[in-house]
Amino acid sequence: MDIGIPAETRKDEARVAATPETVKKLIAQGHKVLVQAGAGQLASYVDDAFATVGAEIVDAKLAFGADIVLKVQAPTAAELSLMKQGASLVGMLDPFDAENRARCAQAGLTAFALEAAPRTTRAQSLDVLSSQANIAGYKAVLVACEYYQRFFPMMMTAAGTVKAARVLVLGAGVAGLQAIATAKRLGAVVEASDVRPAVKEQIESLGGKFVDVPFETPEEHAAAQGVGGYARPMPRSWLDRQAKLVHERAKAADIVISTALIPGRPAPTLLSVETVENMKAGSVIIDLAAGRGAEIEGNRGGNCPLTETDKAVTKNGVHIIGFTNLASMMSSDASALYARNVLDFLKLILTKEGKLNVDLADDIVAATLQCRDGAVASQYQPREDSVPTEVK
Ligand code: NAI
Repeated sequence: MDIGIPAETRKDEARVAATPETVKKLIAQGHKVLVQAGAGQLASYVDDAFATVGAEIVDAKLAFGADIVLKVQAPTAAELSLMKQGASLVGMLDPFDAENRARCAQAGLTAFALEAAPRTTRAQSLDVLSSQANIAGYKAVLVACEYYQRFFPMMMTAAGTVKAARVLVLGAGVAGLQAIATAKRLGAVVEASDVRPAVKEQIESLGGKFVDVPFETPEEHAAAQGVGGYARPMPRSWLDRQAKLVHERAKAADIVISTALIPGRPAPTLLSVETVENMKAGSVIIDLAAGRGAEIEGNRGGNCPLTETDKAVTKNGVHIIGFTNLASMMSSDASALYARNVLDFLKLILTKEGKLNVDLADDIVAATLQCRDGAVASQYQPREDSVPTEVK
């Protein structure tokens, strides 16, 4: 099989879908790997490093013209037009983007969206959401350090004592837990909130304090159990109590890192305009849900409606950061981990003889498949009762 590694062209994307380490393994398996010149440049994987392990350095047309194309982001329309009918595409294609799925199908492709893999033990080594969210959580803390004009650790100096920074993490999934661990390592006092009660122990084991919003009804308790490990929208009653508590904790915080997401739905609003108005001047919000919140007057904020996607803005003295490319800002390690995820995924769809084998009996293959030979995968086709299919 010819495997193509094109350069990513979307704005602020510095990652690459393969590294010399994974290319070497693909070549050892008998594949020919075509790397677009400069594809790894922004992640510090230079063409020579790919060539040394046996890759051919080619132009975009040849990289996209391969039998299997490995991407980070979904290809643009122009990039899709370079792919051949019957080729396969593997990347973070966004399983909730029906338009992109239709475009891939129209191009006659067999396409796999890695984010749709189930969160099971077997899928862990190819879990791109985890590998990239882990990096985003770490980088979020470092970005907060840059905007926060004070120390994180408590310090006793000859010029007086400096208090430790207070960090509030909203949403303690993969990104949130890494943010807690990183902020703790830097010496901050950390507390965190989540809807899922299962995370309490995880937060505490990292040295954080769990901000508890107890459940008052069986309905609240049931909703908080989530589905497939993911959160579900919580009842209004619980959200109102959470909002009050978050308002109080945010007022006392110096840094808020918000990561709360609900797959396939707008991210919940956790930091209201009123809360931001009550936060301390100089405090920092890093909103990892930027661009995924509810749309208000044409702006899709994040967990905070004041967040502006891919921008750093200051409102009422509070710095609100809405960067959506945090993982890409650590492009070398983000690419290294992503490339290993992709390599592990390829094991599920390529036979030992190097042929494509789409085995729908494999739950990971079935869940990630977006379209096959130009037809949209069955789980995305409208059902007779017209209820939209939930992916996870
Ligand atoms: P995510 O990125 O979808 O959401 C981030 C966090 O926001 C979640 O912890 C969620 O509960 C929380 N959240 C949603 N609404 C909220 C609200 N109103 N207030 C506060 N928090 C709210 O989650 P992520 O990081 O992708 O993890 C999803 C699940 O997958 C977790 O249960 C995680 O433990 C599990 N997981 C399992 C793996 C495996 O077994 N292979 C690997 C990685 C994650």
